[in-house]
Amino acid sequence: MDSYKLLITGGIPLVGETYVSGGKNTSVAVISATLLCDEPCVLENLPDIEDVHVLIDILTGLGAKVDYQPEAKRMTVDPRNVNTFRVPYRQTQRMRASYYMLGALLGRFGQAEVGYPGGCSIGARPVDQHLKAFRAIGAEVKDRGAKITAKGKMVGGSVVFDRITVGGTINAMLAAARAEGNTTLYNAAREPHVVDLANFLNSMGCRVKGAGTDTIRITGAKKLHGSVYTVIPDQIETGTLMIAAAATRGDVVIRGCIPTHMESLTAKLLEMGVAVSDMDDAIRVRTVRGHRAVNIKTQEYPGFPTDLQQPMSAMLTRASGDSVVIETIFESRFKHLMEMRRMGAQVQILDQTAIIQGVPELYGAPVTATDLRAGAALVIAGLMANGVTEIYEPGYIERGYEHIEEKLRALGADIRREPLEDI
Ligand code: EPU
Repeated sequence: MDSYKLLITGGIPLVGETYVSGGKNTSVAVISATLLCDEPCVLENLPDIEDVHVLIDILTGLGAKVDYQPEAKRMTVDPRNVNTFRVPYRQTQRMRASYYMLGALLGRFGQAEVGYPGGCSIGARPVDQHLKAFRAIGAEVKDRGAKITAKGKMVGGSVVFDRITVGGTINAMLAAARAEGNTTLYNAAREPHVVDLANFLNSMGCRVKGAGTDTIRITGAKKLHGSVYTVIPDQIETGTLMIAAAATRGDVVIRGCIPTHMESLTAKLLEMGVAVSDMDDAIRVRTVRGHRAVNIKTQEYPGFPTDLQQPMSAMLTRASGDSVVIETIFESRFKHLMEMRRMGAQVQILDQTAIIQGVPELYGAPVTATDLRAGAALVIAGLMANGVTEIYEPGYIERGYEHIEEKLRALGADIRREPLEDI
């Protein structure tokens, strides 16, 4: 249980300029990939978030030397002294991306023994496609419930994913990066962070082609040399800030983002009547009139991202008309809407569909975050609501948003922490 709660006094339009931090889901992939290297690597633009700290603990536990300077957003990882291929469950259950240790250690040693991953509870989240890929590339894999063991010479192979998986695609790329032969991944994920990992691997001397399409070809390298690499800005943080600006009827310029990564969200915001203008590396979002209801169906990139469904559906609770939101990626991603009923939201949930009947007003209430993006959605709900919203378990938000409270305060939001007295 977190030792503090967030208090938000809503109803204030966000106005001004803000910036986007480095991508969470790209950072966790790229940091894991440093284990494959024969020399130290320097990573830049890393966000100072909980998931990065957990990975540092895991890498250090493996014997890597990690020098992290959060103010400079820079990390140097020297993997030369990594002396074990085991990562215990007590570490892996702290985050989802700990599953990248499987691909990275298999790629480096041809052997991995890794506890089951933890992470946000948003559905069943099996890893069968990751294991299928490791087998195709050369490993013998045993899934023992609490831990996964994998061993074998990485020789490369063909993988046809039964469904599109971001984690499975990235893990297969890690396992294949030093394989003796070639690997082809079919039905691969096309997310920007898959492309970012490919660029990082290529900068170390690997040959990855086709990232960003559904077919990725990897020619393994015998040795990988050190690299200095800057991770891309966070697409989901950008989207969350865009939604926060629109939801509060504000006017915000978000700097340091990649507007082309945001097209599915931008299209929906325009459909709602929000004004969105793209610049080279910035987006301005402002609301000039009331919001129309829209329908959303989450899909793999370049479709509407599941990670923005929660903040977006929070905003739709106050749009004019009925919105239908269909969540196709995870089974359990509407918990924030159930919490928001206490704030006056009118929502019906039927399996993976939410029907949201827009209301003119939300009011502050105590609510509890159940996962990272649910936390972000509740912050947006609090910013929109009249009165004071109390958010319990806000620690989830720290897993993935760097300095989010400071960023929102700089735009005029009234958001603060208060210690819990009764714990
Ligand atoms: N799936 C399988 N078998 C597998 C792998 C996935 O059935 O072997 C299913 C999942 O259960 C899910 C779907 O396939 O229904 C897609 O899962 P995917 O593997 O793409 O998701 P992930 O790798 O577990 C990453 C992000 C998530 C993001 C999803 C989808 C990281 C560390 N996590 O998860 O991010 O929602 O891709 O884009 O990169 C978040 O940032 O809040 C977050 C949850």
